[in-house]
Amino acid sequence: MKIAMIGGGVVGQTLAAKLIANGHDVTIGIRKASAEELARPRNFAETLKQWQARTGGAIATLPDAAGSGEIVFNATHGLGSLDALKAAGAGNLSGKILIDVANPLDFSAGMPPFLPAPLTERTSLGEEIQKAFPETRVVKAFNTISATVMVDPSLIPGVQLLIAGNSDTAKDRVRELARDEFGWREFVDLGDITGARGTEHLMPLWLRLFIQGNSPLVALKVIRG
Ligand SMILES: NC(=O)c1ccc[n+]([C@@H]2O[C@H](COP(=O)([O-])OP(=O)(O)OC[C@H]3O[C@@H](n4cnc5c(N)ncnc54)[C@H](OP(=O)(O)O)[C@@H]3O)[C@@H](O)[C@H]2O)c1
Repeated sequence: MKIAMIGGGVVGQTLAAKLIANGHDVTIGIRKASAEELARPRNFAETLKQWQARTGGAIATLPDAAGSGEIVFNATHGLGSLDALKAAGAGNLSGKILIDVANPLDFSAGMPPFLPAPLTERTSLGEEIQKAFPETRVVKAFNTISATVMVDPSLIPGVQLLIAGNSDTAKDRVRELARDEFGWREFVDLGDITGARGTEHLMPLWLRLFIQGNSPLVALKVIRG
């Protein structure tokens, strides 16, 4: 399958590497696909040049990457996601499933980050992406766990994947992809895309647990009585 990974940070690199290892044709999209950008150091990740040498994956501009994928992931910085997806082009996203992994966290004042208005006031990034791209089926998923766990949920036995989106068939497809490509077994359906508010707002708590436990191998679990 052809998959577009919008965003070349640790999340985009990790998801793309696993999908390539599984035999898929994945293109990472970044704003400037220049030699200088490929060599730029990235936080907690390889340079894209190193990533490309290791995985054999493709790197392209945002519209070229988005246009190439049958399914598209949004793995960009949450405060830049709408700009990145607009640059990718509505036409290149139309009719496709977009798996939104991003969180609108503002780290400008250091740790812990905060959820800035207006993206998080009576709305969420997932909802705003769905509004901006009505012809795209947005599914919020994978945003509440660390990149290594996204592609290997066995690292946290019993971990659940929280999913929100307006299209039941798109959510079924994302569950199937999560199960077949990454080994996910437990899912929690949060309903329509407004469920993204809940998952995005979990992130300050999740980051606090990460800091206090000094490990990203942590997840919140839904338990019903
Ligand atoms: N790190 C984790 O384990 C984790 C876990 C769950 C969810 N998330 C979420 O996943 C997303 C990706 O996280 P990350 O740590 O891999 O990387 P990141 O540093 O948050 O984002 C990297 C990507 O965002 C793009 N970007 C940044 N600002 C932009 C802007 N103004 N316009 C367009 N594109 C912009 C960059 O594009 P260029 O390459 O063109 O510079 C880069 O490819 C984030 O939303 C994060 O909250 C992360």
